[in-house]
Amino acid sequence: MISLDASCFHEKCYFNVEAIRAQDPLNADLRLSSLPAMNAAKDTDGLVRLLQYLVQQTRESHIDTSEKAFAAMRDIGIVLGSLKRHGVEPVQAVPEVEQPLVDLGAATNMIPRDTVHHYTSWNPVGARRRSYTGEPQEIWLQDAVVRVFPSLSASLAISDVLSTMSPHDVRFAPTVGMLHESGRTMVDAIDSVTERVSPVFFAQVLRPYFEDVVVRGERYLGPAAAQAPLWLVDLCVWASDRNQADYKTFLVESVHYSLPSWRAFYQRHCHDVSLVTKVTEALDACTGEPDGNLVRSATSLTELMTLLKVFRGRHIGIARKAYAEEVALYAHGSGGAPVALLRKILDLTRENEHLMRERANGARRGQATQAPTVTHEGGRREEGVACGEAA
Ligand code: HEM
Repeated sequence: MISLDASCFHEKCYFNVEAIRAQDPLNADLRLSSLPAMNAAKDTDGLVRLLQYLVQQTRESHIDTSEKAFAAMRDIGIVLGSLKRHGVEPVQAVPEVEQPLVDLGAATNMIPRDTVHHYTSWNPVGARRRSYTGEPQEIWLQDAVVRVFPSLSASLAISDVLSTMSPHDVRFAPTVGMLHESGRTMVDAIDSVTERVSPVFFAQVLRPYFEDVVVRGERYLGPAAAQAPLWLVDLCVWASDRNQADYKTFLVESVHYSLPSWRAFYQRHCHDVSLVTKVTEALDACTGEPDGNLVRSATSLTELMTLLKVFRGRHIGIARKAYAEEVALYAHGSGGAPVALLRKILDLTRENEHLMRERANGARRGQATQAPTVTHEGGRREEGVACGEAA
């Protein structure tokens, strides 16, 4: 029985992952430890029985905390993906699973299937780990994504703060520096995956488990790494007002798969003036030499854009190999988009990095070395002020 109130999730930006991992509300630990063997044997009858068992458990157990609800969705979800991998549409095979999916989605204010959070951060470690294959490469990929979530979540908190700051503010550059620091985990993650996960393993063994499933007539994508909200960081940094149609569509669609507070983040910032625009407009408005704070803001934003470009350059390397014609089983990524979109995102990232680099270099040339100017009173200065005005 599922009894909890979704309204408590609106404000939460991060959850107690250890408390979620510890939960086994459907008494599924033992049965899910056999999942890799069932998948290897393509045992669709066994998978159907396992899903029926989980539905029965959902009725009999008391799912009265968010931790239990996330864990229940995690455990049902991995069986949905397994069935779909073997060509069985799970809700058609086990119609009684549809209501618990809808109820768990509603109770947690998320989509009615598992997401990347369920599959990675909210998944136990060690012997209780839920996985489709049990292969070390799958575990490695899960762990790489687990490592990025705390930093990505912090990136959104930092972005919230930055969105209220003027680029003339002494705090702007070091705060962008924090965003840079937290963004480094994305680069580390893709490096570790490139080193340890073969594109052929991803393409031919793992990717089929991330196919979409139909719930209440809607298609919901599997727990893809593409749901990691780097696109929300982009939104504040450049994409709110410098994006193009394809990436915008991908962003809007991906937001549905994220946490309620991150969907609220999107609503808060989708019409913002981006940081790149703020800094370039502030530089345009300069009548004399730009002040030191503004120059430092432009420089740190350039460094951040370079980091985003580095992640995307390395990421597209492995994505191209995994979706090469001779290897790939699908034309689209598990997040619903082709590698061609990654190319476009990389091009947009490069364009904005190039713009910032030009502007930062120009500003440095036009500026005599100055000590930082303290201009953070009240946390805000209006854009468009003549540079050097700050006191
Ligand atoms: C074998 C490894 C990987 C492959 C083949 C791969 C492939 C792809 C593809 C094809 C896309 C386009 C959207 C879609 O999925 O439909 C994508 C998007 C994305 N992936 Fe990956 N990916 C891999 C690993 C990772 C990892 C480890 C991370 C992060 C920790 C990651 C983060 C992202 C993000 C944030 C996007 C959204 C687009 C962007 O921000 O550039 N991916 N990936």
